[in-house]
Amino acid sequence: MATPNCGSFSNAAGGVDPAKVPTRTLHTGAKIPAIGLGTFGSDRFSGEEVAEAVLGAAAVGYRHFDCASVYGNEHLIGHSLGQIMKGGIKRQDLWVTSKLWNDKHGEKDFIASCEKSLKDLQLDYLDGYLVHWPFPNYHAPGCDVRSRSPDAKPYIHENFMKTWRQMEKLVSLGLVRHIGTSNMTVPKLRLVLRDAKIKPAVNEMELHPHFQQPELFEFVVGRGIVPIGFCPIGSPTRPDRDKTETDTVDIQDPVIVRIARRLNVHPAVVCVKWAVQRGQVPIPFSVYRNEYLANLGCTVGDPLTDAEMKQVAGIDRNCRLIKGQVFLWKDGQTWEDLWDPRGEITPP
Ligand SMILES: NC(=O)c1ccc[n+]([C@@H]2O[C@H](COP(=O)([O-])OP(=O)(O)OC[C@H]3O[C@@H](n4cnc5c(N)ncnc54)[C@H](OP(=O)(O)O)[C@@H]3O)[C@@H](O)[C@H]2O)c1
Repeated sequence: MATPNCGSFSNAAGGVDPAKVPTRTLHTGAKIPAIGLGTFGSDRFSGEEVAEAVLGAAAVGYRHFDCASVYGNEHLIGHSLGQIMKGGIKRQDLWVTSKLWNDKHGEKDFIASCEKSLKDLQLDYLDGYLVHWPFPNYHAPGCDVRSRSPDAKPYIHENFMKTWRQMEKLVSLGLVRHIGTSNMTVPKLRLVLRDAKIKPAVNEMELHPHFQQPELFEFVVGRGIVPIGFCPIGSPTRPDRDKTETDTVDIQDPVIVRIARRLNVHPAVVCVKWAVQRGQVPIPFSVYRNEYLANLGCTVGDPLTDAEMKQVAGIDRNCRLIKGQVFLWKDGQTWEDLWDPRGEITPP
């Protein structure tokens, strides 16, 4: 097995004291660091580079890592986590999330899939385990957004709850400490909250200044679910296949650029700082030390002013970047149908 070219772990000079990084409290009373490192290398970075970044990020003070089986790099990240713990960081001081992929919602695949993530990540338990998407649909990694699975299914609540029961079982088996959802909508979450024995501790959702999802954000916060924000910088380097002509660029927004000038930081850092201050948990990705360190460092500095927070609140463009086209289940639909735009679950 290839392992990242990383020797042993040690804390780096010039990092951030993890004890000073803000945390959010979950419904169990446990705390999650208010920023994590994303680990989806996309088409651009190898698993080895991402695993190296995990090691480097821990050395500068990160304690939270957002992983997923579909990212294809958990076995390499596991090597880094092993080094980090051998280097003296206690397991209980780390927060590691993984996610169940869409083709593993079935009862027979479920536990095996979680156990594989645990083995790959070299852990006895996961802090967070999320249902990555609410649609049970296999599509090849990296496929074109026009590609459709003949077996694609809509969201069917009773099937989702069968999956959720398995998630709850993972908690009772001690394999997972918190379970959560991802890529959900208000109407879907309402039903899950009605029927769950263990409610989601977190909901991972796309959140950045041009896509603030105020209704979903307020909904989850109001129910004691911590919002984890993916693509917090507006994913400027996502693959071309995930870009459309109408997409906007958060880090070029004049409000973000102006605040960045005042703080003498890259506009990406303003997006991260705003996210933490608003109350979501951003999980920015970067393999570059200067970038992931700046993203972590901004969480402990002086806050944005109230006026700046208001200005950023005012630049929401409702611009969803991760549209999920490959999950569409019948002809004649648009990607908006996946997100229940009429306030009720889009009928099958
Ligand atoms: N649950 C889900 O369905 C889901 C979906 C998407 C993503 N995610 C998670 O969210 C994570 C983050 O999303 P993402 O990677 O798409 O987008 P992102 O974090 O918004 O953007 C990452 C890019 O921003 C740039 N960047 C980061 N920090 C910077 C800094 N301080 N200064 C300048 N540029 C900076 C980097 O570009 P350069 O590399 O060019 O420097 C990096 O590749 C993923 O890694 C994954 O863990 C989850």
